[in-house]
Amino acid sequence: MNERKKVTLPVLYDKMAQGIPITMITCYDYPMAYLVEEAGIDIVLVGDSLAMTVLGYDSTLPATMDDMIRHSQAVRRGTPNAFLIGDMPYMTYQPSVETAIRNAGRFMAEAACDGVKLEGGREMADRIEAIANAGIPVMGHLGLTPQSASALGGFRVQGRDAERAKRIVEDAKILEEAGTFAILLEMVPDRVCQLITERANIPIISLGSGPHAHGQLLIFHDMFRLYPKFKPRMAKVYGDAGSVILNGLKQYVKEVTEREFPQPENWFTIKDEEYEALLRLLDQ
Ligand code: KIV
Repeated sequence: MNERKKVTLPVLYDKMAQGIPITMITCYDYPMAYLVEEAGIDIVLVGDSLAMTVLGYDSTLPATMDDMIRHSQAVRRGTPNAFLIGDMPYMTYQPSVETAIRNAGRFMAEAACDGVKLEGGREMADRIEAIANAGIPVMGHLGLTPQSASALGGFRVQGRDAERAKRIVEDAKILEEAGTFAILLEMVPDRVCQLITERANIPIISLGSGPHAHGQLLIFHDMFRLYPKFKPRMAKVYGDAGSVILNGLKQYVKEVTEREFPQPENWFTIKDEEYEALLRLLDQ
């Protein structure tokens, strides 16, 4: 494994101050986290998108705290140095401030996360303030917030008209004042993201919101064609791991069927004398 320094909040703020883009990715398991660590990604989000990408549901809503903790622990083992964020799943912070603090605390205590993320604007400011006051770095999430996809009319760009864009710009400031250490802007028009970034004193991370943010996020399974149902327009495919795996699986089926697999290097043997002794034992 590469030697690299632990990514901390000061490291992220330094990057922002120096105009060095921050890299962020979602990740859900140990082997992928190992690769993410090798690549030197700054921020790793164990997203509740795992309900879709890993568990096969049609939305993020079925993800539970226990799912998130289990996967965050695995990711932490793979990437000890990235700034690891646990995504607070549906209804683990909406009901009350206390619920929010307790569940945020689980990510820190049980999965050694460096922070948490939750969705929502001004209506979540009290949760953000309380979590931050409990000493837990908390990232905000504005624009398309998948837990509210139904209320937002589906998975679509947010803030395309002036009134709605104004609300997102205001929300970003309110969340910053409430104590978020960074804000993720998902599927917000590029110039709205630019306005928010220019006004912000904390890192703004873009997911489909253009080049002006302090950093970029992509969903791991979209980058490598590992999610079969659809590819969001904003995602860039960096490699077709899905095809590599599928071709390997087809080859395996063929080789087993045609008795080409296994070969001697794929199995274990017993010494002749032990085998003879075994036959004698079985004869007794
Ligand atoms: O769950 C997730 O992966 C997310 C991203 C869509 C930002 O929240």
